Amino acid sequence: MDGSTGASRYDEVYAAWRADPDAFWRRAAERLEWATPPATVFDPGMGVYGRWFPDGRLNTCWNALDRHVGAGRGAQAALIWDSPITGRAARFTYAELLDRVARLAGALAARGVAKGDRVIVYMPMVPEAAIAMLACARLGAVHSVVFGGFAAAELAARIADAKPRAIVSASCGIEPGRVVKYKPLLDAAIALSPHRPDFCVILQRPEHPCELTPGRDVDYAAAEAEAPHQPCEIVAATDPLYILYTSGTTGAPKGIVRDNGGHAVALMNSMSMLYGLKAGDVMWTASDVGWVVGHSYIVYAPLLAGCTTVMYEGKPVGTPDAGAFWRVCAEHGVKVLFTAPTAIRAIRKEDPEAKLLAGYDLSKLEALFLAGERCDPPTAEWAHALLGKPVIDHWWQTETGWSISGNFRGLGLFPARFGSGGKPAPGYDLRVLDEGGQEVPRGQIGTLAVKLPLPPANLPTLWHADDRFRSAYLETFPGYYNTSDAGLVDEEGYVFVMSRTDDIINVAGHRLSTGAMEEVLAAHPDVAECAVVGVKDSLKGQAPIGLVVLKAGVDRAEADIAKELVALVRDRIGPVAAFKDARVVPRLPKTRSGKILRGTIRKIADGETYAVPPTIDDPVILDEISGVLKAAER
Ligand code: COA
Ligand code: AMP
Repeated sequence: MDGSTGASRYDEVYAAWRADPDAFWRRAAERLEWATPPATVFDPGMGVYGRWFPDGRLNTCWNALDRHVGAGRGAQAALIWDSPITGRAARFTYAELLDRVARLAGALAARGVAKGDRVIVYMPMVPEAAIAMLACARLGAVHSVVFGGFAAAELAARIADAKPRAIVSASCGIEPGRVVKYKPLLDAAIALSPHRPDFCVILQRPEHPCELTPGRDVDYAAAEAEAPHQPCEIVAATDPLYILYTSGTTGAPKGIVRDNGGHAVALMNSMSMLYGLKAGDVMWTASDVGWVVGHSYIVYAPLLAGCTTVMYEGKPVGTPDAGAFWRVCAEHGVKVLFTAPTAIRAIRKEDPEAKLLAGYDLSKLEALFLAGERCDPPTAEWAHALLGKPVIDHWWQTETGWSISGNFRGLGLFPARFGSGGKPAPGYDLRVLDEGGQEVPRGQIGTLAVKLPLPPANLPTLWHADDRFRSAYLETFPGYYNTSDAGLVDEEGYVFVMSRTDDIINVAGHRLSTGAMEEVLAAHPDVAECAVVGVKDSLKGQAPIGLVVLKAGVDRAEADIAKELVALVRDRIGPVAAFKDARVVPRLPKTRSGKILRGTIRKIADGETYAVPPTIDDPVILDEISGVLKAAER
């Protein structure tokens, strides 16, 4: 049972979009409330490659909250917070969430935050993180959420680039077995950054309250309690809603920009077309608000569609056990669960026979959606056999904001094919290109590229960096957006996403740059050169491993240096990098022109067969590397 009905309207809807994209998106836009409805759907002459709904005006928060309260949904649950890690839970109706958001917006406005100002949100998975995002949207301010697992230096880089007027943060986050003290990280980041925010709003959590910095910090609860309700600021559809920084191929993160209008239209459309959900349904996205999946499907899309969203502060295993996901689904009547394959692998590893599922009533659950990394077929098959519900792999990126390909519950599912990320979503003209930019025949691997224009909600540019946007995404294949994912489209149109074509790796569904890790290793005084590659990991999909060549004359114990390197990456990038393995090698394999053969190193580490590259300067090095990688169990 894969949920396919044999009567999918996918082909028909995709063809309708292709025939008249403007009509498709105009219809989708009509489902929102606009202050000024857009007369133009797409202006190809505006911005880098064109802009969506250029003359429309609206407010995203209004559409996510006020509109539903106005339509009589005030008493319906908007957000359910379930936090097994603290043993607490909370439920907010649409009316209650609107009240909290409007008051926080008032508190920010009273301290000078206005339309266009940036606000960094550095918070754990608490309702106040979503409240802060929506409060910014209400003001027309631009939020930039920073994931809690990043180190101070990464937060500092984002503060320096976004130049926020304010930062909303919390006293702590909680990870299994440890409290993550946010305040020292925040203080260190502000000290490191050339830009200083005017003020910080700090949520005191009972698990670990912190000392506020006089003259800079404001207590979240007090500020919200005393503030008046702030009305919505109407903005242009093309005004930025948020910036979300993501790993680029260097240490400097890319500020992905999301607009207001295109974002709301595409996300609203995806709720019915892709996830098959309608107002009143419960969606649980087990991700983090610090990632794009969390932005789109914990916060904005479910609320825009009038659904109930579940926000979960816990892990798939260990909080308290591998039955946690099934408990949350049963307790809150979750209709669609969306998570990363890693989470399912973690549950399967702990509870392979799914004994912990017994006793939970999952009759309301209709589908499991997976994304964030390639889903290995055994994981999808296990979940499918277990749940007896459709398991839908869908492919997307921080840049796109919603899925490039998938299977569409709202159109009737077509037969699933595990290992594939489904078929292109209406809105995406997906092609597979060879190195010269020519389309390859069906079934052959190439670079996955989207013919411009990108659909609504996709990035219009990078924050204050149009040129970097062009060079990173649009220049390799003129007329196309380069996804930097390699893959194929088979005879029947199924998309298979195989690997990245750049140095991005996916560790536990988290996107990381090996280039950024190399920059950190290279800064160690004993390191002459280094290479970081992503190797296969049975739980996390990939894990980084660093090979370093020491400077001549360094005679310290290699184990000590390796330990320092692991600590350095944790300190500079953060625990989320999951960098735990550094090894000293005598030399690195290179081409005659000096390029490090990272792909070959990865194949050796994964135990794959590899061809000795004809351009290699000295093939003997490959045996040396192989010896070092085999020397210790990973
Ligand atoms: N704040 C601070 N630290 C964090 C953090 C956060 N928000 N999130 C993760 N970390 C830390 C972890 O505690 C861990 O630290 P450690 O090295 O001291 O153990 C480190 O970062 C690595 O985390 P992770 O890679 O997540 O591994 P894990 O062993 O803690 O958990 C899983 C493994 C599979 C349970 C977990 O990765 C998971 O739930 N993955 C789902 C992925 C997901 O939601 N992706 C979002 C895209 S859809
Ligand atoms: P992020 O920007 O963190 O969402 O990561 C985006 C990258 O994750 C993509 O470019 C892919 O490499 C990978 N990815 C996301 N979803 C999938 C999927 N369903 N199948 C394969 N790879 C995926």
